[in-house]
Amino acid sequence: MTGVLRPGIRTFKPRRSRITARAERALLEQERLLIPASDDLLDLASIWGTDVPVVMEIGFGDGRATAAMAASDPGTGILAIDVHTPGVGELLWRLADAGIGNVRVMEADALGVLAGMIPAASLSGLRTYFPDPWPKARHHKRRIVQPAVLDLVATRLQTDGWWHLATDWAEYADSMRACFAEDPRWEGGPIPRPENRPVTRYERRALNEGRGVTDLLYRLRPVV
Ligand SMILES: C[S@@+](CC[C@H](N)C(=O)[O-])C[C@H]1O[C@@H](n2cnc3c(N)ncnc32)[C@H](O)[C@@H]1O
Repeated sequence: MTGVLRPGIRTFKPRRSRITARAERALLEQERLLIPASDDLLDLASIWGTDVPVVMEIGFGDGRATAAMAASDPGTGILAIDVHTPGVGELLWRLADAGIGNVRVMEADALGVLAGMIPAASLSGLRTYFPDPWPKARHHKRRIVQPAVLDLVATRLQTDGWWHLATDWAEYADSMRACFAEDPRWEGGPIPRPENRPVTRYERRALNEGRGVTDLLYRLRPVV
């Protein structure tokens, strides 16, 4: 798959964590909801139908928010991507358990998927909730919000496409704002917390530890 960041730089850290029995079973039984990573462009219309808006989510964690948001918006196709196998299994379990049909799941580096599998100007939006903050300065190159990624995302969104982000790391929120401000294709900024974004375990811990949460919404500027 095409590299987006410098060779060897990843936005995630490989984690080992226990996989639940239900997640393990879902990985075997819900294959129909999984899209394998490849070097071929995805035909979004053949998956969700023509004229169905498709939203990508990068880094869904345990999938709780993804499943809830998809269930409340069945007319939108959701392409949910994460690299963490236990979380992939957990989301597959949630989707099957609740009978949610508008989500497809990929276990992959979402930047490679965006670059190699998503057609130009095809997504209606992108969600990235609580991306790894990489707080040390020497790790900022691993942050998902950086100029090369804004550049790539701008090419994959439809003309009125949006990117909704949330972070509990104030300095990362400032850095995101600065990054978007430098790219003339984007407009937007902080928004009140949308009611349809469920509180995840990750967010709850941040709030308990006294960190505030910033939601940011950016859109591609209309081309004149
Ligand atoms: C801090 S967690 C937040 C998870 C979830 N959004 C939540 O709010 O609970 C960040 C997630 O992003 C995933 N991630 C980071 N970089 C990624 C990438 N390039 N492609 C896919 N997943 C990625 C990690 O595996 C992890 O599950």
